[in-house]
Amino acid sequence: MIAVAVNGYGTIGKRVADAVSLQDDMKIVGVVKTRPTFEARRAIEQGYPLFVNCAENMPAFTDAGLKVEGTLDDLLKLADIVIDCTPGKVGIQNKPIYKSAGVKAIFQGGEKSGTGDVSFNAMGNYADSIGKDFVRVVSCNTTGLCRTLSAIDKKLGVKKARVTLIRRGPDPGNSKKGPVNAIVPNPPTVPSHHGPDVNTIFPDMKIMTSAVIVPTTLMHLHTVCVELNKNASVDDVKEIFSNTPRVILVKASEGLTSTAEVMELARDMGRTRSDLNEIAVWDESINVVDGELFYIQAVHQESDVVPENIDCIRAMMNTVTDAKESVRKTDDALGLKKWW
Ligand SMILES: NC(=O)c1ccc[n+]([C@@H]2O[C@H](COP(=O)([O-])OP(=O)(O)OC[C@H]3O[C@@H](n4cnc5c(N)ncnc54)[C@H](OP(=O)(O)O)[C@@H]3O)[C@@H](O)[C@H]2O)c1
Repeated sequence: MIAVAVNGYGTIGKRVADAVSLQDDMKIVGVVKTRPTFEARRAIEQGYPLFVNCAENMPAFTDAGLKVEGTLDDLLKLADIVIDCTPGKVGIQNKPIYKSAGVKAIFQGGEKSGTGDVSFNAMGNYADSIGKDFVRVVSCNTTGLCRTLSAIDKKLGVKKARVTLIRRGPDPGNSKKGPVNAIVPNPPTVPSHHGPDVNTIFPDMKIMTSAVIVPTTLMHLHTVCVELNKNASVDDVKEIFSNTPRVILVKASEGLTSTAEVMELARDMGRTRSDLNEIAVWDESINVVDGELFYIQAVHQESDVVPENIDCIRAMMNTVTDAKESVRKTDDALGLKKWW
């Protein structure tokens, strides 16, 4: 059993902890909070040993009546690997702590790419992370792009991709961030950071990205244009996506006309927290004109990176060397689309 610690028990951290618990080859040895919030209480209720990031914060937990097992340093003694899910730019500050404790660490997409020895996408470059000590799982948007573009690239060849990303404002559980009534070019520069981030997984892929943030919390949406190396029909592309792990086709003709209905589908599927770990590509949006492929996809930002973190653990611990084998194992345990 791989002993896994989660440092940063928020949107991503709590989902990763639950996903680890569903696997038969790894277990949670503890999760770390800085404050005695409802999430700390829920962690204990779910049976996760609760730790505090530093001794100074311990009394607040005791005052709140929450049982704490120790500090981050204590937890690292129990762990083979730590999943750092702290807010962006905090992970890099934690890296020396993990290093001196001799514990492998996975960082998230809010960290700069150099934070890990390599960046990770399961079906993109699994092998690069085998046995590594520090790896960064790319962001939700980059994961979404890597999933569909790598599938197209393998079968048809991507000559060049151009993507517009329409990004959600905050996550649904965040009442502080906006925008409330604006469309914000973010970043205002072109390319946005997403294209270069895809290149941390596929260094040779030609890709241009630009991004705006809009007042919605549910999902991101990407409009994708790809110049292809090989001729393909719309049906060829649909078949590729149907056979691609963690990608699903959704039909507007069946009422899935927006991100709202796609999230409703996830709720109807009984997914925990209404998560949709898969990237949803609109069936009707797929078109090929003069050798150029077009499609529109939705990304559930809170959950698409979760299965990637699980695969990344197996790669870094060198317990499964074949990407497909790990992806199948993860997807089976999480109850995702059967693609095998
Ligand atoms: N949310 C997304 O859509 C998304 C998608 C993909 C990747 N990511 C990336 O995943 C990472 C985490 O993002 P998130 O959305 O999960 O953030 P989040 O919801 O804000 O959760 C992070 C948690 O870390 C805790 N924290 C803060 N400082 C800490 C510290 N020094 N040590 C330990 N815990 C600390 C906070 O809880 P307490 O202070 O209350 O303990 C907070 O709840 C970021 O790199 C982000 O860019 C986010």
